[in-house]
Amino acid sequence: MTKKILLSGVKPTGRPHIGNYFGAMRQFVAMQNLYQSLYMIADYHALNFIQDKKEMEENILGVAMDYLALGLDPQKSIIFKQSDISEHTELTWIFDTITTMPYLMRAHAYKDAAAKDNEINVGTFNYPMLMAADILLYDTDVVPVGQDQKQHIEYARDTAQKFNNVFKSEIFKLPQEKILDDVAVVPGTDGRKMSKSYDNTIPLFATEAEIKKAVMSIVTDSSGEKPENVFAIHKLVKPESELSALYDQNKGNYKALKEALISDLEDFIKPLREKREQLEHDKEYVLDVLREGDKRAKAKAEKKMEEVREAIGVKLY
Ligand code: ADP
Ligand code: TRP
Repeated sequence: MTKKILLSGVKPTGRPHIGNYFGAMRQFVAMQNLYQSLYMIADYHALNFIQDKKEMEENILGVAMDYLALGLDPQKSIIFKQSDISEHTELTWIFDTITTMPYLMRAHAYKDAAAKDNEINVGTFNYPMLMAADILLYDTDVVPVGQDQKQHIEYARDTAQKFNNVFKSEIFKLPQEKILDDVAVVPGTDGRKMSKSYDNTIPLFATEAEIKKAVMSIVTDSSGEKPENVFAIHKLVKPESELSALYDQNKGNYKALKEALISDLEDFIKPLREKREQLEHDKEYVLDVLREGDKRAKAKAEKKMEEVREAIGVKLY
């Protein structure tokens, strides 16, 4: 039986944190064995936020190294960069012509961005159509993502259906999201959602000094004996059954609990960090992985776009 197809992507917008990992990326590695997998670096999505050549270049390589350090295997998965495959932006245009502005205005991400700043760029507005193109070009069955991306997969599904109806075809498969349901939002050091934009993160590949600094800065609610913010992060790296004795013995002793968390986070992060450091010394290997991914993804995307052009009536020869 042929394996089903999986595609996911990460925007190269900066260092990943443990919220990104436990909320979304954690499932990538295990899933690559069960599906024909494509893991993309969503650099054209990131262009909405990163408009600086050097930063973009570094961030793209950064995501490639993150993927490899976490255990994505280029022998099993296609690891590629969105901007290498021009079919993504070409298909976005076609989707734009069958999509209405009111429909895109209903997107949560658009509403949030517009609430903060009226001068929202067209790329941010159109974000869901580029993401639909990413997904639909490869006949994707399943898209592992974090909770906040659910609506984007619904947009991809709706767009596939709309295209199939308008052009009386069966070209696009309807994709399904795969969301880790046992992880709620990972809190940051200040108790709000962990996020790059709040400066409250624990980096996924943090040094030991960075782990210490971040954990020591975790805001503890002095009203209870159990520091909930410390515990919420702790239970990601150690089973709750093992933690209950520790937290019982150290009621109110926040310092000891934070020290235990530092040690458990270091045990979890150290092998990942070391793997990533090795990759930093082998940039040519990382570039080769992307070159190979480009070739393999391109072949699939080209084929699909031929079918699309045929279906819409622009392919005359
Ligand atoms: P950030 O808020 O740091 O900019 P992104 O928006 O780039 O993070 O998120 C990338 C992915 O990581 C998304 O799929 C999102 O669901 C997941 N994610 C981000 N922050 C968290 C968090 N605090 N808890 C759980 N998942 C998260
Ligand atoms: N929008 C996703 C995020 O912010 C990244 C992304 C871009 C993606 N294209 C995708 C995820 C296609 C899954 C499939 O996390």
